[in-house]
Amino acid sequence: MCGIFGYTGHEQAAPLLVGGLRLLEYRGYDSAGIAVTNGSGSISLTRRAGGTDSVARLSAAIDELSPHGSVGIAHTRWATHGKVAERNSHPHVGRSGNVAVVHNGIVENYLELKTGLTDSGITFSSETDSEVIAHLVAHEIEQGADLATAVGNAMKLVEGATAIVATSTAEPEKLVAARLGNAGGIVIGAAEHAYMVASDIIALLPHTNRICYLESGQVVTITPDSCQITRLNGSPVLAEFITSSRSADMAARGRYPHFMAKEIAEQPDSVTAAMRQRVDLATRKIDLPEFDLSPAEALSINRAVFIGMGTSLHAGMNGASSVEALARIPTYSENASEFRYRNPVLDEHTLVVSVTQSGETADTLAAMELARDSGSRLVTAVEAEGTQATRLANVTLPVRCGQEIGVAATKTMTATMITLTLMAARLAALRGNLSEEDEAEIATALSSMPALVGTALEREDPIKKIAADLTNYHHLLYLGRGAQFPVAMEGALKMKEIAYIHAEGYAAGEMKHGVNALISEEMPTIAIAPRDAMFEKMVSNVNEVKSRGGRVIVVTTDGDDIMESIADDVLYVPQTIPILQPVLNVIPMQMLAYHTSIALGMDPDKPRNLAKTVTVE
Ligand code: G6P
Repeated sequence: MCGIFGYTGHEQAAPLLVGGLRLLEYRGYDSAGIAVTNGSGSISLTRRAGGTDSVARLSAAIDELSPHGSVGIAHTRWATHGKVAERNSHPHVGRSGNVAVVHNGIVENYLELKTGLTDSGITFSSETDSEVIAHLVAHEIEQGADLATAVGNAMKLVEGATAIVATSTAEPEKLVAARLGNAGGIVIGAAEHAYMVASDIIALLPHTNRICYLESGQVVTITPDSCQITRLNGSPVLAEFITSSRSADMAARGRYPHFMAKEIAEQPDSVTAAMRQRVDLATRKIDLPEFDLSPAEALSINRAVFIGMGTSLHAGMNGASSVEALARIPTYSENASEFRYRNPVLDEHTLVVSVTQSGETADTLAAMELARDSGSRLVTAVEAEGTQATRLANVTLPVRCGQEIGVAATKTMTATMITLTLMAARLAALRGNLSEEDEAEIATALSSMPALVGTALEREDPIKKIAADLTNYHHLLYLGRGAQFPVAMEGALKMKEIAYIHAEGYAAGEMKHGVNALISEEMPTIAIAPRDAMFEKMVSNVNEVKSRGGRVIVVTTDGDDIMESIADDVLYVPQTIPILQPVLNVIPMQMLAYHTSIALGMDPDKPRNLAKTVTVE
């Protein structure tokens, strides 16, 4: 959930640390802090808490205080233990102030550890679980351990998924980082006479693209000119650096006021990227080389399960209906946090597809581990390659849309939907369920998706008008049927996330079983009703809402002339084949939430209480 960054080199660390935090702000932003270690044996701590601009305020403080030193650690927080306050902000220091630690994750046995430390005379200055680690490391150093051994020993006592970086005045050139389980990664970056560690490669890219991922149970020690990885017990591990193809400016906001606006606008490109070299327009064939199952393996699958959280769950729901429709395999989709604790029935004939743009979501990773241990074939659709999800899965399907910064997922969803459609088509083909004509039809429709997404994006003005009006309401209902149900869920989620308006995504058929009681002029309904097999049913639902005094906004497809006469507002999207229609329908959902958020004066990139990458359960 939190972002951590560390630097050891020959430049002044403080501005670099703040620069790193700016890039990691999406992981949490209720507090921010840095610790700079200097050669003369002291650590200076600067922390700011509260609001969504803590990194900006930290930066102003750093300009004023100019902490001196070329080694340091930094943290941007998403509070789990202890409220948002400066004393709870990281870095945390050990008793004598000689050790500072930043932490991402949860120390599950922190109360037990805290009691032990308190009994030995240590006073805590925060309510966090993280401070325990600072004291454990400091205690080890007091006992004569070097920093790496101290961190390794401290981590042996900690239960729960955790990632830390530590600095000590006893070895001022060194930083030591460690990772236990899946609490957000640690990526090491090698630059000229400098090494860095960060939760996410994005913070390293302005300095280097030579990177190495730290595995669970490993400890890394960096100095300006060296990098050594060991296991917790000190046994050495070979550090394998790779050159990342990502570029630093991928993360820049460019001319857009918000990352979310930029990422919405990028979708014609990101959808194209998801299809590149996978859809052959000349032969009208679909290929997904990463999905390298043999026909026999594909035929042995008797069930497909899609797991994910938030928007990724909705993309997975969409994938499940595509697999069922094309490959004729029974499918279901489920929230990973439920799945992981349900003792689900899984075996080698089950295809488990995890959807996670970050590749780091704690619940999704735990659900994947469960699937792997039960012998199921495990596929993951991810944006962030090289992350833990890709290491757990048998098959990785990169969605290739480029890093998303806005907390509310947009382009990752549409790119994932495209990728999973390709997977569904491949699975169908491998099982002998896809005729050449059907494959050609899907490939042709895919080839026009970038243009159609572009057309959907151009229709912003009527959406802005409706968004301005929606600011007057506290409750919204989103309705859809069949493949549009996940679109309704996603529309409601976006509105909750960034406009803080209570919104429900509902299967339209459920209306009569309770929700109708809520219909009034106080609660507008957004109905997703393209001209498909469910259209007539949706017309009935819209009529039912209208006859009970509710305001209705319909999203339908070009050419429809029925909804105009029933609904209060109609938003049109281009029409495509049914299996791809949800990709286009989700675009107005994103824009509606974005413009409502803006009209309410909120910051859609940094919604309160949320984070982009949820590395705790
Ligand atoms: C958070 C983010 C969402 C994302 C969800 C799942 O809630 O704010 O945008 O959809 O996590 O994340 P994942 O990285 O697994 O796709």
